[in-house]
Amino acid sequence: MAVIVIVGGQWGDEGKGKIIDLLAEKAKVVARFSGGDNAGHTVINPYGEFRLHLVPSGIFYPQVTCIISNGVAINPAVLLEEIDDLHNHGVDTSRLFISDRAHLIMPYHTLFDALEEERRSKRAIGTTRRGIGPAFADKVARVGIRAGYLLDKDTFRGRLSAALEFKNIILTKVYQVSPLSLEEIYDQYCHYGEQLVPFIRETSSIIREAATKGEPVLLEGAQGALLDPDFGTYPYVTSSSPLAGASCIGTGLGPREINRVMGIFKAYNTRVGAGPMPTELKDEIGDLIRKKAREYGATTGRPRRCGWFDAVAGRFSVEINGLSDIALTHLDVYDGFSSIKICTAYKFKGEVLTSFPSDIAILEKCQPVYEELAGWQESISGIRNFKKLPAGARNYMSRLEDLLSCPISLVSVGPDRRQIILVTPSTPL
Ligand code: GDP
Ligand code: IMO
Ligand code: MG
Repeated sequence: MAVIVIVGGQWGDEGKGKIIDLLAEKAKVVARFSGGDNAGHTVINPYGEFRLHLVPSGIFYPQVTCIISNGVAINPAVLLEEIDDLHNHGVDTSRLFISDRAHLIMPYHTLFDALEEERRSKRAIGTTRRGIGPAFADKVARVGIRAGYLLDKDTFRGRLSAALEFKNIILTKVYQVSPLSLEEIYDQYCHYGEQLVPFIRETSSIIREAATKGEPVLLEGAQGALLDPDFGTYPYVTSSSPLAGASCIGTGLGPREINRVMGIFKAYNTRVGAGPMPTELKDEIGDLIRKKAREYGATTGRPRRCGWFDAVAGRFSVEINGLSDIALTHLDVYDGFSSIKICTAYKFKGEVLTSFPSDIAILEKCQPVYEELAGWQESISGIRNFKKLPAGARNYMSRLEDLLSCPISLVSVGPDRRQIILVTPSTPL
């Protein structure tokens, strides 16, 4: 197994939580490497049903050390609530560690996120309003607050005071809202710090040591490739890279340590938030997919936009992530569909495009070119053997493999940990 990176191949919510919860059975370390509590990773296992925003999806196994690494932006209130919820369900969190280099989401980040979304109005990004953009902006602008700062209250106070001084100028002079109180934030974060101190430490050495020993390590991505700030549908993207390449910077592992890059794809496409989505179905088929798969955001509860599988975007995702293989999820959602479409190209101003455009001004005007495949009628959610899948399902997978030039190694046929099919039973997990 060695070091496997697991990333979202589309616009997020592909089922990363489920697949990581499954693969972590054999892992020694599971580390989240990017994003923040904008992520919502659903895990359904014998402990119950969880929507993990920050804690890695490997937390349910006693042998797994879980790390929220340096590439993640942490809202301490959300993390403490999540740890509490896990304890209430009998899950042990004593092997959870937080990188001292991870940045913290501060009250002004969530406030700025909301103020900017409101100011942009019709042009809003549709963010999760978790303060992600402002927190990563501060990291790059060198004015962020790191988790490690909580270990020394005096230096924390000085750094918070310096950051807040400027934030309050923007709040009062630009947005014309009330300033935030240094004392209140300081007290609140010292309180969080007292609870988080046992978790905070240097973490890259733990991951590197496991990788060097050849122990199984999973690097858990958040969001999906098309939300990447460089390669996604900019500016309708998130603010940290969800790509496999970011797993190195986000954990402190070198690229030569990565042995396998698995991309998670839904059998169709969804998107939550604004921005172009060429295959979106604003009709009864889109509604049917949403209803069958309960496509509502795990973080915000917003209805997800649903559409046919976009193989142009999918192929691009395979390329920019350098995927070794794919876990295809939600194939069961197509049960009962007599035919299924796949977008194989875009039409733009009379031309046929087969590559994903860089500029959304073009993507917004692209019309999908569809290929139609026969579906299947039976329910596949109880099937565990690839050969027992109906011909329609196997043909659909085979066509996706051709279009994406990447093999499918796992197929998920329902939300539960056990609803999985290994395509080649010998595929090492
Ligand atoms: P993540 O952010 O990539 O971890 O995905 P989310 O948890 O946000 O969204 C995936 C949703 O689909 C969750 O409600 C899962 O329980 C559910 N799910 C995962 N895999 C499957 C599957 O194969 N079939 C069905 N029907 N639902 C699935
Ligand atoms: P997981 O890890 C789906 C989307 C938001 C919005 C855009 C920017 O569960 O797959 P942000 O709050 O990050 O500034 O919002 O990104 N987004 C996600 N969509 N799944 C996610 O995470 C997402 N995280 C952010 O909806 O369109
Ligand atoms: Mg999600």
